[in-house]
Amino acid sequence: MSNNLLKGKKGIIFGALNEDSIAWKVAERAHEEGAEFILTNAPVALRMGELNKLAEATGSEVIPADVTSTEDLENLFAVAEKKYGKIDFILHSIGMSINVRKKIHYTESNYEFYNKAMDISAISFHRVMKIAKKKDIMNEWGSILALSYIAGQLAFPGYNDMADAKAQLEAIARNFGYYYGVDKKVRVNTISQSPTKTTAGGGIKGFDSLYGFAELQSPLGNAPALDCANYCITLFSDLTKYVTMQNLMHDGGFSTTGVSNKVMDKLGFE
Ligand SMILES: NC(=O)c1ccc[n+]([C@@H]2O[C@H](COP(=O)([O-])OP(=O)(O)OC[C@H]3O[C@@H](n4cnc5c(N)ncnc54)[C@H](O)[C@@H]3O)[C@@H](O)[C@H]2O)c1
Repeated sequence: MSNNLLKGKKGIIFGALNEDSIAWKVAERAHEEGAEFILTNAPVALRMGELNKLAEATGSEVIPADVTSTEDLENLFAVAEKKYGKIDFILHSIGMSINVRKKIHYTESNYEFYNKAMDISAISFHRVMKIAKKKDIMNEWGSILALSYIAGQLAFPGYNDMADAKAQLEAIARNFGYYYGVDKKVRVNTISQSPTKTTAGGGIKGFDSLYGFAELQSPLGNAPALDCANYCITLFSDLTKYVTMQNLMHDGGFSTTGVSNKVMDKLGFE
């Protein structure tokens, strides 16, 4: 299905690892809606070779970039500038925590790992926008998005230091969004997505219970990755030009539900 919502638009999509990745679905939908884009991921992720399939299907170029490396990002944006001149959208769909991977309890966080999680999952969003703004590569009314999770605002045991990273990511969207809006009319938002079965999601301790609980608690159920991609497309389109500096909930109503009957029933309460 295409409504040509992104016809003529150019962009950069960070974070497609495999078919489950939210960024993978965004790339497929952006292609269907008429966009052209560069796909990028960390060199180590590219070694798996999966991304080439997506590149072929969407007619995209793959440029490696570790988001913690200013040099890699400068090279990526130089390629984008040479290819497109200016661009219209950027998707930051990146998260990684060694504390999560190693299942280290939040209260016992290793700070080397903690700083790495912040750098990859949050500060990289600032770094990407800093380089984009310096280069003046975004068209006016361009749209920059990052993916977040409600643990940035509410406590979810097990989400670990990624919760702190998401809180920081959302703050960066607000603060950078202010300056980018004033100076260049570029909008910056985060989408807070339901638990989703992906490689990053699966790394969270107790992910299946988190997923199951959210499914019961959300009036509409958990939002699938494809629907998240569709929401991203609307935010890259010209139909949402005045939406900026927001953390937008895409969660089937989870975040504004105190408790659902399904959860109560499960607990055995009348
Ligand atoms: N899966 C969920 O339940 C869920 C829920 C809400 C938000 N999110 C967020 O969605 C985003 C995408 O995650 P996903 O669920 O699609 O999982 P995913 O594992 O498919 O994507 C994570 C991506 O981050 C990339 N990455 C890690 N370190 C990097 C680095 N140094 N440089 C460049 N890229 C790097 C990985 O290679 C991978 O492509 C993340 O920000 C995640 O926190 C996920």
